[in-house]
Amino acid sequence: MGIGIDLGGTAIKGGIVDYQGTIQKERMVKTQSQLGYAQVLNDLVVLIKELHQLTPEETGVGIGIPGILSADGATVVSCPNLNWKNRPLKQDLESCLSLEVLLVNDATAACIAEAAFGSTRDKKNSVILTLGTGVGGGVIINEHVIFGAHGVASEVGHMIMEENFYDCNCGKNGCLETFASATALIRYCQKQLDEGTESVLRTIKNFDARDIFEFAKAGDVLALAAVNRLTRYLGWAIANISDLIDPEVFTIGGGLSGAGEFLLEKIIAETRSRLTYPQYAMPEIVLATFGNEAGMIGAANLSRFI
Ligand code: BGC
Repeated sequence: MGIGIDLGGTAIKGGIVDYQGTIQKERMVKTQSQLGYAQVLNDLVVLIKELHQLTPEETGVGIGIPGILSADGATVVSCPNLNWKNRPLKQDLESCLSLEVLLVNDATAACIAEAAFGSTRDKKNSVILTLGTGVGGGVIINEHVIFGAHGVASEVGHMIMEENFYDCNCGKNGCLETFASATALIRYCQKQLDEGTESVLRTIKNFDARDIFEFAKAGDVLALAAVNRLTRYLGWAIANISDLIDPEVFTIGGGLSGAGEFLLEKIIAETRSRLTYPQYAMPEIVLATFGNEAGMIGAANLSRFI
């Protein structure tokens, strides 16, 4: 058994997960990043303590972080969507909990879960793209998780696609994340509505990405254009990554993967139209077996895979 935490932009999800990747117990609290680091730290401590009391066994704790870590895995160097820089999270948690805590990038945790128990189980080379508040990436080449020279490899959400109408939280303009995340979908639709485009979305207060997908499926012109825009950029990104490392499979995870085949079919079509050798080296593109829970499952099993 392990305790796995997925620290997301909107929610902190925690679970007790067994060594087959099955979640035994699960808890969730809102991420109150607007209240600062100390509040999120406290919420993490409370959640982990609660989970620890629920499991009689000795358990390790793994946490998927929505950003990059120092090479020793102790410090959160940067989390664009929590507005954190250089936070000594491992030490802060361990001194409150008296438990060992391992930290890893959230999408890398998801990549590990899918490779160990899910969609990429029998594959040597796989890439995951997690689509949520941000866009995360995880890469496995020849059965090895790729961290890079500085531990910041696979930050696919910050690959620059082209100029966009708003800046990314990382400070750059044009990041994939500003075209292909839940945040990007909402911002794009809001901008079009502000400019007068007609859409059923206008009737919904605080619409979210799920509403946009629902209306896109029902044929709303704006919602459909927003989804097509998102999948176009994802197709470009997947084709680029594919040309670079030629993996057997790409997995689509994160909250938006809940849109299922509707999303997947569009991504596959876009990728095929942009790949240099589509007949020869078209990768499989699949939905994450564990959907938005992959990060938590991978985090709980970290000590066994990295
Ligand atoms: C961060 C990544 C993270 C992703 C998903 C991005 O903004 O840079 O490290 O994996 O969001 O949370």
